Amino acid sequence: MVIHFPPIRSFVRREGRMTTAQRIALENLWPLYGVTLDALVQLQRENSLGKFFVEIGFGMGHSLLAMAEQFPTYQFLGIDIYRPGIGAVLQAIDANKLQNVRIVSEDAVDVLQRLNNRSVDGLLIFFPDPWPKRRHHKRRLIQSAFIHAVMQKLKVGGYLHIATDWKDYADHIAVVLNKFSDFKIFDEGDHKAQEVIPRALTKFELRGKKLGHAVYEFIRVLGDSSASP
Ligand SMILES: C[S@@+](CC[C@H](N)C(=O)[O-])C[C@H]1O[C@@H](n2cnc3c(N)ncnc32)[C@H](O)[C@@H]1O
Repeated sequence: MVIHFPPIRSFVRREGRMTTAQRIALENLWPLYGVTLDALVQLQRENSLGKFFVEIGFGMGHSLLAMAEQFPTYQFLGIDIYRPGIGAVLQAIDANKLQNVRIVSEDAVDVLQRLNNRSVDGLLIFFPDPWPKRRHHKRRLIQSAFIHAVMQKLKVGGYLHIATDWKDYADHIAVVLNKFSDFKIFDEGDHKAQEVIPRALTKFELRGKKLGHAVYEFIRVLGDSSASP
């Protein structure tokens, strides 16, 4: 196995332009709604019975906030390192008095490792960075090792939902997912299946639509035969 050091990340930290309101929200609201890697254990302990959904790369938070508003009894954890987005989401959480969203600002690969096995009802990745140049493909988040980790964290019957507007990335995602036979394609007619939370329009989906891109969607449910932790 090749061990890369420093590890290859699926993002490049860019400060981006932050509004004053986002900066203030980051300073004042992070202690209320932000969690560190170490605090994830406690978050999961407190929510040990409730439904638990994780969105990786929430960006400006359109989908995360819509889900949290629609399902106030479920716990949502948003993961992203993009500070203007985190500021915007903190602002919205506070303004809408959402009690069921927490934010972690770390690499999702590291966050996943800290979550309890078989604890996640749904893991959502909407419009992940496509890294279109061939020499950057190794930076793509969706890789076999990552999917293997996702499968350990999902409850049996829990699901992974990915959407992308990049055909080439979609082809890659299909190849990776098809390696895992315990990951079943979601069947809407299966009434025993976990409900899939509808996906809200996001900033990057809108950007793709303006470019005339199609959207490729993957929903995979963890089957019974993966029940070992
Ligand atoms: C292309 S944007 C999509 C944002 C949003 N989901 C949307 O559809 O508008 C991808 C986001 O994923 C975040 N991201 C990429 N890799 C990540 C990682 N390993 N851990 C946490 N966030 C990550 C980036 O910071 C960025 O905000």
